[in-house]
Amino acid sequence: MKLWGGRFAQGGRDAHFEKFSESFSVDRRLVQYDLLANQAYVKALGAAGVLSGAEVRQLRRGLRAIARTLERNPNRWRTESAEDVHTWVEERLEREVGLVARKLRTGRSRNDLVATETRLYAKSETARLQSAILELLEALVHQARAHADVVMPGYTHLQPAQPVLFSHYLLAYHEMLARDFDRLESGKRRADELPLGSGALAGAAFPLDRESLARELGFARPTRNSIDATSDRDFLSEFLFCCALTMIHLSRLAEDLIIYSSPGFGYVELADAYSTGSSIMPQKKNPDSLELIRGKAATVLGKLAGTLALLKGLPLAYDRDLQEDKAALFEATDITHDSLVLAARVIATLAVRPSAMAKATTVGFLTATEIADELARRGVAFAQAHEQVGRLVYACLNSTRDTRGGGRGQDRTHGQEAKKPRTFYEISDEEARRYIPSWDPELRKIATSPADAIRRRDVIGGTAPSQVNKQLRDAEGRLAQFKRRLGRTE
Ligand code: ARG
Repeated sequence: MKLWGGRFAQGGRDAHFEKFSESFSVDRRLVQYDLLANQAYVKALGAAGVLSGAEVRQLRRGLRAIARTLERNPNRWRTESAEDVHTWVEERLEREVGLVARKLRTGRSRNDLVATETRLYAKSETARLQSAILELLEALVHQARAHADVVMPGYTHLQPAQPVLFSHYLLAYHEMLARDFDRLESGKRRADELPLGSGALAGAAFPLDRESLARELGFARPTRNSIDATSDRDFLSEFLFCCALTMIHLSRLAEDLIIYSSPGFGYVELADAYSTGSSIMPQKKNPDSLELIRGKAATVLGKLAGTLALLKGLPLAYDRDLQEDKAALFEATDITHDSLVLAARVIATLAVRPSAMAKATTVGFLTATEIADELARRGVAFAQAHEQVGRLVYACLNSTRDTRGGGRGQDRTHGQEAKKPRTFYEISDEEARRYIPSWDPELRKIATSPADAIRRRDVIGGTAPSQVNKQLRDAEGRLAQFKRRLGRTE
């Protein structure tokens, strides 16, 4: 069946092109929305006096029958083919109710129909993604609560920087994902306009009450411009951007945990359920779950870039190029959803190793800034304090087995073997005073107390336990609020 056969010569079709142009294999996923939109549209045609009451009842009964068939046998798709989901439904409807089905598309085009259904889909998938984000937010808060006081090395450039609380680190991802939750919602507000009634591009020529049609389909309002309504895919691009950014956040989290679970770090260990082994190396435990999330982020990013490229240069209004939008939308949605669910489980079951993290805070000179800060508090110009501490670090790194001390350029090391780097914990007071003249027990304590360094960062958003506790309470409060917004109760 073709919705447009009359104008064409009989038998002049090319099977290769038919297959190339069909979208049913992809857009059949919209069938529920097609049936919904048709139900509402039939009612609107009745109200406009285009269909009689009896015709409206017949068509609506037919549409319900199709819905029931699909409920009973959701897999019947496998054996069916059609140009697209709209064609399929129209054909099925004719089989259900006869020729009256041919009145269904009065005043309507697939252009306003497909735009309507894609918006319905994006709106409902927004809620599904939001609840998956919620799972992950909960897992993060849970782990942060359970390890509120665990100290870890914080990194910049992946080089040891300053000590932070592990809970503070986890809550950083909570912030990103909470914004993703919000972003999806604000995108939904712009998707919440009904294109149906816009016709092919110029608007329907029948007196449809688009306000009540919008209400019937759960849209906030009808679109304002029929040319825009049939050609715009902003809402879809925004939705894909939300997916892509969420995936990028997941990918960064994955990357961190891949590093932190490597034996060189050993800060965390993935549950066996989310790891795999090697077919050749019996000892291996690989974080494949996280690597796949990181890899799939690339795919979703590609869907966004591809869709933006699709829109660039498209003349108004509808062009068939737009058919490509749905495969991108569906795939990005599925990947993002499934990645969120998996990430939530990986986090929830993650084993945390506080002692490995604590040990790592004693190397890497994480308290170097603290010493310089204390010298600055004592009146030394910060630049000078920075230089003094830098020289102490240099001495620690370049000390040798036999030669204790030996400043810059003076060490008698020949080759790397003889070097024996030391930490602040291993340096003598006498030697430290060579680089920092005012070195005293107080400075030694500062140099060897990462926990104190953490306590001093007592500003809003800082890593001090008092602040992180507030952040935790705030995160828990937002979680409860998000749940209410999704209509969830506990
Ligand atoms: N399958 C098409 C799509 O997804 C439906 C709209 C077709 N419209 C048209 N004028 N050929 O975009």
